[in-house]
Amino acid sequence: MYLPGLGSREVTSRLERYPCIHPVDPSCRQTLTVTTVVKKQPGGSQSCLVRCNDGKLYVLKMNPNPQGPNVLANEALGSMLIRGLGLPAPAWKPVVINLKTVRLFPELAMQTSATELSFPACGIHFGSEYLGGPQYDLYNFMPKNHTHKLRSTAQFLPIFLFDTWASHQDERQCVYKRLREARLYDTFFVDNGHLFGGPTWSEVAGHSRASCSGSIQTPLIGDPRIEQWLKLFENRIPKLLHHAIAVVPGEWYRDDIYELYARLLWRLESIRALVEREILRTRSKFVTTSVPSGWV
Ligand SMILES: Nc1ncnc2c1ncn2[C@@H]1O[C@H](COP(=O)(O)OP(=O)(O)O)[C@@H](O)[C@H]1O
Ligand SMILES: [Mg+2]
Repeated sequence: MYLPGLGSREVTSRLERYPCIHPVDPSCRQTLTVTTVVKKQPGGSQSCLVRCNDGKLYVLKMNPNPQGPNVLANEALGSMLIRGLGLPAPAWKPVVINLKTVRLFPELAMQTSATELSFPACGIHFGSEYLGGPQYDLYNFMPKNHTHKLRSTAQFLPIFLFDTWASHQDERQCVYKRLREARLYDTFFVDNGHLFGGPTWSEVAGHSRASCSGSIQTPLIGDPRIEQWLKLFENRIPKLLHHAIAVVPGEWYRDDIYELYARLLWRLESIRALVEREILRTRSKFVTTSVPSGWV
């Protein structure tokens, strides 16, 4: 299926049926400040684990981000949508960085080339509530033959559907968390920077890479759970998206968020075809190359 680029008239006409968005002024929201930088996190966005003035830990993704212009907007939209659909993901908070923060914590700087560093802008940045703590074990990876150690695998089907709808351009990343000494892990979905066609909101929508991820299996066409979830998506996503777009700070994106809004609503209208195409695409991909065990 080809998804055409939308001209401004098409964007307007597509959005006519939906209520207007009144952006929320970020200064009206309660913001946090950094009190300690604990460590750099692994990963291309060069996030840092920080403690904020509410005493809690956050994984802080900063702006401008080496991964691209809309990464922080994608993170916030992704967190709000995934949580709003009842799926497990960390909550986020706006974290303010000012000149004093940069002076106190030069380690917040991000490496943009072998010789260059870029400092975070003065303004609001994305803080993802840290899932860990002294009483927990956290892992980024769970071998396929360890799925019996997960408390539930029910969330993998809806996240496959979500990533397909949201045109996720990266593998779906999970954090697995358990109480120390406990047997079972809970799964949380993180790293939403490459949703919505990636950090530039690319128009080559539809080439989702969602199902490349280890734990997430491609479902079978006709699985009755798919329809149940898609109905829930249709019920909830318009309202969630409307709210999320109003809340995401304007400085976190460079491209036209109304065009993205229109495209995502269009993808919701076409979601059954998108899902079917994604299932066929990922299954044929794994049939023609090697089929990892456990894939259908
Ligand atoms: N809320 C969170 N709690 C615990 N760990 C997190 C959280 N958010 C991200 N991480 C971890 O921090 C690292 C970097 O985060 P990620 O979102 O994957 O950024 P990147 O885009 O740089 O890959 C990853 O190892 C990820 O598992
Ligand atoms: Mg990552």
